[in-house]
Amino acid sequence: MVRLTCGSALLFLVCVVSARPQCAKGFCMVTEGGTSTPAVHSVPFYKKFSGKVKSIKTLLARDLARYKVDTVAARAVGEAPGTNNDFSYVAATKVGTQTFELLVDTGSSLTWVGAETRYTPGSTAVNTGKRFSVIYGDESTASGTEYTDTVVIGGLTIRNQSFGDATRSSGFNGVDGIIGFGPVDLTQGTVSGVTTVPTVMNNLFSQGTISTQVLGISFAPESGSDNDDTNGELTLGGTDPTKYSGSITWAPTTTASPYNRAVVDTGTTLIYIPTAAYNSFLTASGGHTDHAAGLASWTALPTHNFAFTIGGVSFSLTPSQFTVPTAQYADWGLPSGKFYGLIANGGTVAAGVNFILGQKFLENYYSVFDTTDSRVGFATGA
Ligand SMILES: *[C@@H]1O[C@H](CO)[C@@H](O)[C@H](O)[C@H]1NC(C)=O
Repeated sequence: MVRLTCGSALLFLVCVVSARPQCAKGFCMVTEGGTSTPAVHSVPFYKKFSGKVKSIKTLLARDLARYKVDTVAARAVGEAPGTNNDFSYVAATKVGTQTFELLVDTGSSLTWVGAETRYTPGSTAVNTGKRFSVIYGDESTASGTEYTDTVVIGGLTIRNQSFGDATRSSGFNGVDGIIGFGPVDLTQGTVSGVTTVPTVMNNLFSQGTISTQVLGISFAPESGSDNDDTNGELTLGGTDPTKYSGSITWAPTTTASPYNRAVVDTGTTLIYIPTAAYNSFLTASGGHTDHAAGLASWTALPTHNFAFTIGGVSFSLTPSQFTVPTAQYADWGLPSGKFYGLIANGGTVAAGVNFILGQKFLENYYSVFDTTDSRVGFATGA
């Protein structure tokens, strides 16, 4: 078994994992209680597949561009990461009177609409007169005007939610925008004249709808040729115990320097590990990088599991969990005759974050993003 340890802590979103259980500035205050009955709400969400992976190398490049060094530096002045890969996780979200398909992103925090369907302000809309602008790591962009309006997700109503009405956007196909579940710090610099903008989770909490800023995420793993199911569940304000078994293993999060840390991100498709670990993985499993695809490859299905140690607990993936299902080769544009890895080379630390637990890890475990207590948790799926 190849074992990769990522320290005692994981970083989520843009947040980087700290090796010590230490809170980052502005990210560690424990707040008690809401103003009304605590409640936990579960929202179905679904996968949207572009139809065919146009280029796996482009997918790899876009995944990694979210966390390149220049992107991380840009974040200090307030730009957020984001992406719209071939595989998007989408939740139907009502803004004013319209329902939009928004990319569920734990790696960014600003919510905006208008990429495909334009927003039409109704009677509950307020134009704040402020500009919003975000440039994502993969060079996709969105900009326009900030509005506040009533937002409904999964039956939960949020009054006065700030969001961007995009008059321009590029790099987003098949989704109307982003619903940002990252920490509020990541909204810095995205809206003119304010330091940060309250996120959807912030407002659900401050309006007493949820009692803790916890997001639970469950994906049912894909098998066979299916890759666009409604098979996800977001739980706002807590976790859904029917979706996991045993206890949750926690790791602290931080927004400090990303180097040597891991990122947990619903907006990244694959799993990326540092080059040295990737090379050990290939050697131990008898694999090679397929240069056409840019993915690890084997002539026979590997026989050992791959384990990540998080918070002292091993989270392993079986060979069929860490390889592309053969029934999906046509969608991925892959030739048959080989097995291809979903664990890819993340590069070196010098280029930015090189350790990312993306969708292909998250589809196999229940994950919990806890901004109240600055931690990320994982559990075995139910
Ligand atoms: C609406 O939210 C904005 C921040 O997004 C805040 O500045 C404003 O005070 C809020 N208005 C009301 C009426 O709550």
